[in-house]
Amino acid sequence: MDIWWSLTADVDKICLLLLMLILSVIYLWRNRLSDIPNGPFSFPFTGNGKILQDKPHINLTVLKDQYGRIYSIKLGKQRAIVVCSHEGIVEALIKLSPKLCGRPKMFLPQGFFKGNHEAGVCFSELNMKYKIKKDFVLHSLNSISCSEELSDVVMNEIQGVIALLLEKKAALEILPLFESIFLRLMLYIVNGKLYQGDDVNFKEILRTFQYRADELHQKWLSVTSPLLSSFNQRNRTELIERTQLQFEYQRDIVNRHKDCFNPDIISDVVDHGLLMLERYDDMGELDQSELDTLFIELCGTGYRQLASTISWLILYIASFPNIQHKVYTELISVIGKERLPKLSDQPNLPYTTAVILETQRLASVMPLLYPHITVEDVTFSGFNIPKDTVVLFNVWSVHHDAKYWKQPMKFDPDRFIKDGCLHIPDHYLPFGEGLRACPGENITDVLLFLFASHIMFHVSAKLLDDSDLEGNFHGFVLTPKPYAAEFIPRETVVNDVLDIPDSRDTVCYMDGLEI
Ligand code: HEM
Ligand SMILES: *[C@@H]1O[C@H](CO)[C@@H](O)[C@H](O)[C@H]1NC(C)=O
Ligand SMILES: *[C@@H]1O[C@H](CO)[C@@H](O)[C@H](O)[C@H]1NC(C)=O
Ligand SMILES: *[C@@H]1O[C@H](CO)[C@@H](O)[C@H](O)[C@H]1NC(C)=O
Repeated sequence: MDIWWSLTADVDKICLLLLMLILSVIYLWRNRLSDIPNGPFSFPFTGNGKILQDKPHINLTVLKDQYGRIYSIKLGKQRAIVVCSHEGIVEALIKLSPKLCGRPKMFLPQGFFKGNHEAGVCFSELNMKYKIKKDFVLHSLNSISCSEELSDVVMNEIQGVIALLLEKKAALEILPLFESIFLRLMLYIVNGKLYQGDDVNFKEILRTFQYRADELHQKWLSVTSPLLSSFNQRNRTELIERTQLQFEYQRDIVNRHKDCFNPDIISDVVDHGLLMLERYDDMGELDQSELDTLFIELCGTGYRQLASTISWLILYIASFPNIQHKVYTELISVIGKERLPKLSDQPNLPYTTAVILETQRLASVMPLLYPHITVEDVTFSGFNIPKDTVVLFNVWSVHHDAKYWKQPMKFDPDRFIKDGCLHIPDHYLPFGEGLRACPGENITDVLLFLFASHIMFHVSAKLLDDSDLEGNFHGFVLTPKPYAAEFIPRETVVNDVLDIPDSRDTVCYMDGLEI
């Protein structure tokens, strides 16, 4: 009996040993196959989601101290690589391009652009159509960004904003104000129609984009942490219905452009689209719905980043009166007090420009870019990363790394100035890098320069409460928390009379279209 007992116990032990051996072999084998970087312990199902819920850019930056500047985390079941070094970003987005330049589909909410993820640019796969669309977007935005007409319209809008800042004082909510202004400008750039702020159609368009950003954020929460997320079916349905209406509205705008199309007068993105359709065969590969998606996407990608950047800029200058004073001094010494700053002044205003660059570095309004995905197996930084691995580029981390910047947490525009001239280091990447980089960079530079220089020319800002400088991460954009500021007019005697062209839409468009 005794012998029988000890024998079964041994069999148990042997089985256990064998099992452990098999498991270790499988473990080692899998590790050998996908030789991915190390990372923090992750829970089954939720993965590392908890660290990505609230301030993902900060939590992902803290982890680099423990795991190095390239490590891996788990988004639910999905493995993701996090890149926190400039060298890593350059290798991934330039040297190995386009292997790490895909876009994961899983971050897109249901009903986003009628469920056709391929239609726009932002979330499209890398294929021939993507190339045609991206080239078109780059070309049309760049040619509009240097038009004088845009500059005049923008300057006129700014006069309105400044009047508002001075009138409403502390009661003003800065971020929503600028979101509304920049969306109106983007709608003007794309559709050629300049809405009044209280226009019914404009308000509906703004609401629709807000729903889209909310849903994008909900999706981020549910992908990063499937067990923690909650979602609102009513919002989802609302977005789907609103998207349907928005597409009908956009179709109507395109048709109106067609009715009065003149290839000699190309002024907005829709005109550029029609011209391309007429002249180039490859645009013909895009169907109507893809073109509409492209136009709608262009109206909506960018205005939140622009509004956030200007809100951060006001918050920073209000926090540092001496910097504000230095900008004002530069402005009046170059421009005088009798005319308004204009785009051609920018090369003579290095300090003013440096304040904008430093705002974009310190704020890093798109701290993780948009998520990328590997489109094939790739050896990156010595690791073997399999196809379909999500890659997050933590630009916030690069922008706040003492390895690249002296006293990175300090707001110090002078870091962008060398021997009195503007100097932009390579590790400054607010627009991303390579194939997927932001096509709106040049038009953004124009808009930010005009807004920032005019605001600092006309008013000084004073902070009315102790605002913390940490932002909210929502729909991939980092915005400042609400803050109260007071605006005091500068003594400028401007005699400039702006020559604002009649809004083109008064010729061609009918108002009151229901959306
Ligand atoms: C302060 C302003 C802006 C900032 C900081 C910004 C930043 C970025 C960043 C970081 C990306 C992602 C790059 C990547 O994932 O690798 C991006 C993509 C994109 N941005 Fe911007 N952006 C701004 C304004 C705009 C504007 C005004 C437009 C349009 C008119 C625009 C259109 C786009 C598009 C279409 C993409 C997707 C590109 C692609 O996937 O190929 N952005 N932007
Ligand atoms: C992530 O960040 C939040 C807020 O910044 C913090 O409360 C939380 O403890 C962090 N989580 C981890 C795992 O570091
Ligand atoms: C639903 O939409 C409302 C209004 O936009 C928003 O306040 C709320 O946070 C949304 N809920 C979810 C779960 O997204
Ligand atoms: C911005 O403009 C410069 C000079 O015109 C051009 O070389 C560059 O490609 C443009 N960048 C983008 C993102 O359009």
